Amino acid sequence: SEALPEGYTARSLRLADYDAGFLDCLRVLTTVGEISKEQFAERYQWMSSQDTYYVLVIEDKGKIVGTGALLVERKFIHSLGLVGHIEDIAVAKDQQGKKLGLRLIQALDFIAEKVGCYKTILDCSEANEGFYVKCGFRRAGLEMAHYY
Ligand code: ACO
Repeated sequence: SEALPEGYTARSLRLADYDAGFLDCLRVLTTVGEISKEQFAERYQWMSSQDTYYVLVIEDKGKIVGTGALLVERKFIHSLGLVGHIEDIAVAKDQQGKKLGLRLIQALDFIAEKVGCYKTILDCSEANEGFYVKCGFRRAGLEMAHYY
């Protein structure tokens, strides 16, 4: 089935999601830090002023239970090609295993294809490889990082 569980909604991130547990949802992924409502609003407005960031959320009973982002990179190569980058996929601990992660990836993939990306890529841990394989991705290349 292509549907979310009864009562769940998938939609774009809103400013009001600050009060609906958006940042707490991201905390299952990594350190988020203390972000004020004003700081959140400033970053949200900046992202919304571009046509580069697509941040989706899944809501259940007024709470954000899942989120994921697509960044659309504009290149010179491949005739000014566009590459999608999937980032910051997080499903609340008590909501995992309900296909919410899969639905987020499907929705982000749909946007990437619709805006004209020739591919979508992402980085993940070995522990998450099986999830992304089930979402239609395959291992390609090797991630490297330089932390500051
Ligand atoms: N390894 C192997 N298979 C998995 C894994 C895993 N780690 N996680 C889920 N699956 C499988 C499920 O069993 C299911 O298989 P099925 O169709 O045969 O039943 C399928 O993948 C879809 O699973 P979902 O129910 O959609 O997964 P869920 O909603 O729990 O989301 C996620 C998966 C996003 C990894 C979630 O567990 C999570 O938020 N984890 C913590 C944060 C995290 O690691 N995020 C990803 C970071 S990488 C990035 O953001 C690019």
